[in-house]
Amino acid sequence: MKIDGDVSELLTKIKKDIRPSSEEVANALALYEELKREIERTIHLKEPYVVELEGSLAKGTALKGDIDIDIFILIRREDLSREWLEEHVLDPLSEGLASKCSVNRRYASHPYLRVSCSGLEADLVPAFWARSIDEIRTPVDRTPFHTRYVRSRLSDTMKDEVRLLKKFLKSLDVYGAEIRVQGFSGYLTELLIIKYKTFLNLLKELPSWREGQVILVDSIDEDELTLKSIFRGAALILPDPVDPRRNAAAAVSRKSLATLILGAAAFAQRPSREFFFPEKRYLTLKELNNILRSTEREALTMIFALKEGGSPDVIWGELRRLASKVKNYLIKMEYPVLDVRIWSDEKRIAMILIDVPDPGKMLTYIMREGPRKLYGVNLIRYAEKYVKMREAVGPWVSEEGIPKVLIPRKGREPATLLRGLPPDFLGAKSLNLVKITTDLKEAVDFVEQHYRGELLHWLTEAVVKRPSWLGIG
Ligand code: CTP
Ligand code: MG
Repeated sequence: MKIDGDVSELLTKIKKDIRPSSEEVANALALYEELKREIERTIHLKEPYVVELEGSLAKGTALKGDIDIDIFILIRREDLSREWLEEHVLDPLSEGLASKCSVNRRYASHPYLRVSCSGLEADLVPAFWARSIDEIRTPVDRTPFHTRYVRSRLSDTMKDEVRLLKKFLKSLDVYGAEIRVQGFSGYLTELLIIKYKTFLNLLKELPSWREGQVILVDSIDEDELTLKSIFRGAALILPDPVDPRRNAAAAVSRKSLATLILGAAAFAQRPSREFFFPEKRYLTLKELNNILRSTEREALTMIFALKEGGSPDVIWGELRRLASKVKNYLIKMEYPVLDVRIWSDEKRIAMILIDVPDPGKMLTYIMREGPRKLYGVNLIRYAEKYVKMREAVGPWVSEEGIPKVLIPRKGREPATLLRGLPPDFLGAKSLNLVKITTDLKEAVDFVEQHYRGELLHWLTEAVVKRPSWLGIG
C-alpha cells in the first residue's frame, strides 16, 4: 500500500470538518445536565442509583452534527425486569418529560426511552449498577466500563482519529453493530484506534487481515488458537479489554469486513474527500431498466407491509433470513440467483430485490447428470426415472461414461415460481407479503414520497453493483 505524505493534509482538513464545535458539545452537555436533573426529580427509588453520561459524548468521539446523548440510569437492584422498570422508571420518566420532549419507548434487548428535545436526541437507558465487570447481567451493564476504559486510553489526537475512522466506516455503510448493518460499533472503532493509534496505520494493516483475524488491544492470557476456537465463526475477533470472554467485534459480518478491506485499498490508491463525504448515486428508472436489459438481467422485487411494533433489529433480521430462504429456493429450482438485497423504511414497508438472469434469455432445458461412480443399480435407477419422463431428451451415456439427460426447467420465470409458493413461506412475524413484481416503477410507487429518493438510491446500487468508491486502477 502506498499512502504517503499528501494524504495527511487531506486528513487534517477532514478531521477539522468533522470535529464538533465547542458550542455544539456545550449544548449537548447542557441538555444532559437538564435531563439528569429531570430524572432525579421524577423517579423515586428505594435502591441506590446514579445517572451517568456514556457513549461518544462522554468519550469525546462524537461526530459534528451527529451528537446523540447516551444517558444511563444505573440502579443497584437485583430485579430489573421489564415490568419493574416500566412502573418505577420508564412510566414516571415518560410522564415527567412529556411537556418538554417527545418521548418514544424502545425495546432493544432491554427497554429504554428515546427522547427528542430542543433538536437533540437522547437515549435514557436503565441498567444494573455493577461494581465490577463480573457482576454484570446484561450487555447494557457493560457500557459504563467501556466508557471508563476508552476515556483512560484515548488522547485528544486519537479522538480525532476515531472520528476519521467512524466517518469512513459510515461512508462505506459498515458503521454500527445493529442487525441492519452488522458492522463496527462506536466502541470497536475506538478499540481499533487504541490498538493502531491512527486511521492510516489501521489502513496499512487491513490488507493482511484474514477471516477470523485476531486482534489484541491489551495482552491477555489466552493464545490465538484458543481464541479462534472460543469465538469460532466470527469474521473478526477482538476480545473486549474490559471483559475478554466477550468478542467486541462479534457483530461484524464477513460482508462488512470485506467492504472495509476493499474500501481501505481503494482509498490508499486514490485518497480523496469522497471517502468521507460520499455523494449518493441516483439513476432514473429508465436508466436502470436500460442497464438491466443490456446486461440481460431482471430485478424481481418482493414488497412487504410491516406489521405494527416490530423493532428495526427484528425487521432486518427477518428480512435477511427470508431473502436467503427465497434465494435458496430459486437455486433449488435450478434458477441462478445473481444477487439479493434488502431495504426497509423500518415503519411501513420492506423489500427484497432478487437479481436474476433475464428469464426470456434462459435456456428452457437444463442438463442433469447421473451417477459418476459406476454402480449398476444407481445407473439403472437413473435411466428408468428419465425414460418414464415424456418431455425428457435422453437419457444417454456420454463419451466419458457419464449418464446425462436434458429436462425442461421446472418453471421458467422466477416470479411465477415465487408466486406459486404458499403464503406462509413468503412471510415472517413482522412481514406481510403484498406484491411480487418485476417492474421497478411499481416498487417505487409503493413507498411514501418521503422515502422515494432513498429507495431509488438503493435500486441504483443494486443494479449498478460496483460501489462508487471502488475506483481502483
Ligand atoms: N447503548 C445501549 N443502549 C442504547 C444506547 C446505547 O446499550 N439504547 C450502549 C451501547 O452498547 C454502547 C454505548 O451505549 O456501548 C454507546 O452507544 P452508541 O451511541 O451506539 O455508540 P457511541 O460510542 O456513543 O457512538 P456514536 O458516536 O455512534 O453515538
Ligand atoms: Mg452514542
